[in-house]
Amino acid sequence: MIKVGVIFGGESVEHEISIITAVQAMNYMDTSKYEVVPIYIGKDRNWYTGEALRDMATYKDLNNVSFMAKEVTLTKRDDKYILQKKNGLFKGVVNTIDVAFPIVHGKGVEDGSLAGYLETLNIPYVGSSMLGSAIGQDKVVQKQVMAACDIPIVDYVWFYDTEYQTDEDKILQNIKKLGYPVIVKPARLGSSVGIEVAKNEEEVKDAIEEAIKYDEKIIVEKMVENLKEVDCAVIGNYEDMECSLIGEMLTNNDFLTFEDKYLGKGSKKTGSKNQTGGKISNSGFKIPATLDKEVEEQVFKYSKEAFRCLNLSGVTRFDFLVDSKAKKVYVNEPNTIPGSLAFFFFTPAGKKYSKLLDELIKGAIKEYKTAKKKVTSFESNVLSTFDGAKGAKGIKGKMM
Ligand SMILES: Nc1ncnc2c1ncn2[C@@H]1O[C@H](COP(=O)(O)OP(=O)(O)O)[C@@H](O)[C@H]1O
Ligand SMILES: [Mg+2]
Repeated sequence: MIKVGVIFGGESVEHEISIITAVQAMNYMDTSKYEVVPIYIGKDRNWYTGEALRDMATYKDLNNVSFMAKEVTLTKRDDKYILQKKNGLFKGVVNTIDVAFPIVHGKGVEDGSLAGYLETLNIPYVGSSMLGSAIGQDKVVQKQVMAACDIPIVDYVWFYDTEYQTDEDKILQNIKKLGYPVIVKPARLGSSVGIEVAKNEEEVKDAIEEAIKYDEKIIVEKMVENLKEVDCAVIGNYEDMECSLIGEMLTNNDFLTFEDKYLGKGSKKTGSKNQTGGKISNSGFKIPATLDKEVEEQVFKYSKEAFRCLNLSGVTRFDFLVDSKAKKVYVNEPNTIPGSLAFFFFTPAGKKYSKLLDELIKGAIKEYKTAKKKVTSFESNVLSTFDGAKGAKGIKGKMM
């Protein structure tokens, strides 16, 4: 039996969404192959484990979690990955895991921080590497990479807050060249926090002031006209990947229209985009989408190309912006740990959720084994010839 440590929560605005996705995933895991070990990161950044964490009722009052579960640290001892009791006299082993399955959203966790920690411990883990996850969180860097790979993206301008403060006129000139309307976003936030549309220079100044409250790095994009938003998920890794069906974001029911969100009455929004805090539930989608053949082909093609060139693996959901009149397709952004792991994009085509989870875990173990075969260290110890201050110079000379 493989022990899967499902890591969720974390200090981010999408904390609760992460709990929902994780509890759901744990319920769907094939118990004939996998033993589920829940690992919850509280908003206080403490880590907990215990069976109670599989029950939604435990989270009705987040303050109660510390009574219902054990506070632990994830670490390595001998060849085992252990959850070690954090407090008390005896720091016993509470549980062990074989593979980690991060289901976290947003800054401080999904952005490569958690992947980096797991990488340091050398634990096999599901999903994108530290690099892919970090690129996935930065709306500027991901565009720079995609542009270099000839993947279509909208025209944009980006800058740091201090550059705007010292060179406002030049930046406004560049935005003018893009042409209004534009959309202003903090580069690394997500959940539509701090995002505003601007139809002219006055509005763009306000929108930039707003975005600067949330991030040092700002992106201003040209608005796509005749907008249709579609999504496509990709599962796998660079060697072997598969697209889901394409989903079309619905603008009625549970979801607010783009106009409602950004242009409508009282649209001075700084909070979450909808009830699900920007993460997407299946109720907001029509799957499969009704699309022209040529648009559909481009969405599949660019989903795979973006998955590859952004260094992603596991499952990622790509947001696309489509100009439905011009039939132009733009990749908007990757969601490297999508809400509900985007399972509902796969199930209508016959892949069950438990199968999806199985593929993800197997993929993680396979990637880990492949990586292990590469040379990562050398037997010889450079420090064996080190002899104090004199040696330090010598080493510098050798290594630089
Ligand atoms: N360039 C654009 N043109 C038109 N609409 C856009 C553009 N960029 C974003 N949007 C709209 O804003 C929403 C949120 O933007 P997005 O970049 O996906 O941020 P988040 O990280 O908050 O999901 C999108 O789902 C889409 O409705
Ligand atoms: Mg988005």
